[in-house]
Amino acid sequence: MSPFASPSGSPSGSAGKLPATIGSAAERVSLDTFTRRLIRLDRGAESILEDAKSFPETPMIQLAAAAFCLLGQTAAADAAGRAYLDAAAPLLRGATDRERRWEAMLRRWLAHDHLGALDQAEALTALWPTDLLAAKIAEFFYYVLGQEHEAPRFRAHMDRLVPANPDDADLLAMAAFAEELCGDLPAAEATVGRALAIDPDQPWAHHCVAHIHLRRGDADAGIAALEGFLPSWIASGRFAHCHNGWHLALAHLDRLDRDRALDLFRRHVWGIAPDLVFEQVDAIALLWRLELAGASVDALWPVIAAHVAGHLGSHYMPFLDAHFVYALARAGQADTVAAWQREVARRTASGDAEAARSWATFGGPLIEAVAAFATGDARKAAALLDPVMSLATIGGGSDAQVDLFRQTYFHALVRSGRKADARAYWSSALGEKPASDLDRWRLALAA
Ligand SMILES: [Fe+2]
Repeated sequence: MSPFASPSGSPSGSAGKLPATIGSAAERVSLDTFTRRLIRLDRGAESILEDAKSFPETPMIQLAAAAFCLLGQTAAADAAGRAYLDAAAPLLRGATDRERRWEAMLRRWLAHDHLGALDQAEALTALWPTDLLAAKIAEFFYYVLGQEHEAPRFRAHMDRLVPANPDDADLLAMAAFAEELCGDLPAAEATVGRALAIDPDQPWAHHCVAHIHLRRGDADAGIAALEGFLPSWIASGRFAHCHNGWHLALAHLDRLDRDRALDLFRRHVWGIAPDLVFEQVDAIALLWRLELAGASVDALWPVIAAHVAGHLGSHYMPFLDAHFVYALARAGQADTVAAWQREVARRTASGDAEAARSWATFGGPLIEAVAAFATGDARKAAALLDPVMSLATIGGGSDAQVDLFRQTYFHALVRSGRKADARAYWSSALGEKPASDLDRWRLALAA
């Protein structure tokens, strides 16, 4: 086999245009199909695991299979990813610079060195601006590192790639999201409009529309748009279907329509692929928000807790651990929560760059506070969160997802009798955004 580039004229993002050690048209189809399915969040990206069996001698297919596994965010997914990386290793001796750089990025990701892996992903797209698989994986690293915190870097990355892929709806959807995360709604609206003009059913563009309406505080427009998009999500991959359904439920919750939010939880968010971490985190976040909005969902916690208890010890990012600990605590699993807190203390004290950046500053106090709040000790939760809430965006998740921690802090203040602090905090959190029905309901608790 020898590295070659395909003839010009392939669509951007096509593996055929990118240097890779490929010996047949079938291998190129495998990589192109996987890349397009993953970056569009379509169903079927898991086909790369079958292709890894068909083409055990193709390094980029083994590396792509590893990347697919590592998105799983579990110890089992990491083990599967490691096996594909090990399969790729002996194939890389005669491989291209791009493939060796991919391997270096994936090794850092496997070690949960997301800062280092992101540097590698950005270096890959600097050299090959049509490597949209690397761009999509970089987007995941911004999520792990806090998408709002990393928004300027995310946006600069996407701005660099759009000129090389001007008509790629999947990239435009990412670029629009980066603009939204920066709070530049006019730019986000323009870019997402370009994406939807090319591909009206692009689910990540729909997702950006959800974020734009949420940031603007316009639940009615959000509901109108997302209810219209919803039928197309059925054809999307599980992540897009689940997360977009979660956003629609949030918009209904903003209107205090708890019943529709719970209906969306049952039909589109939870129970379809309950061992998928993306589904678990959206399900927990929605139930948590429903509880904060006055709904009773007690019976659902043990069901979810049974699927997340096994993540003890993975500590992917504070954002995830906070969700898992909340679910376990609400399910009454005190021993597991205590063990989890000891593990978090160990992760926080481990001394690597991410421990210092995300865990010692915010993650450690957040998870202790969440455990206290979930078991009724609001005073302790509020005291733990008082000094760290300004760092809420550093522990992972998007702007919308991190808002859950702000809501929790508000309720901890109210429940510990600090109503004036709660009012002041929520007014400041709202900023210029108009108060929703849920905001008014919430503020009445602090009156
Ligand atoms: Fe989102």
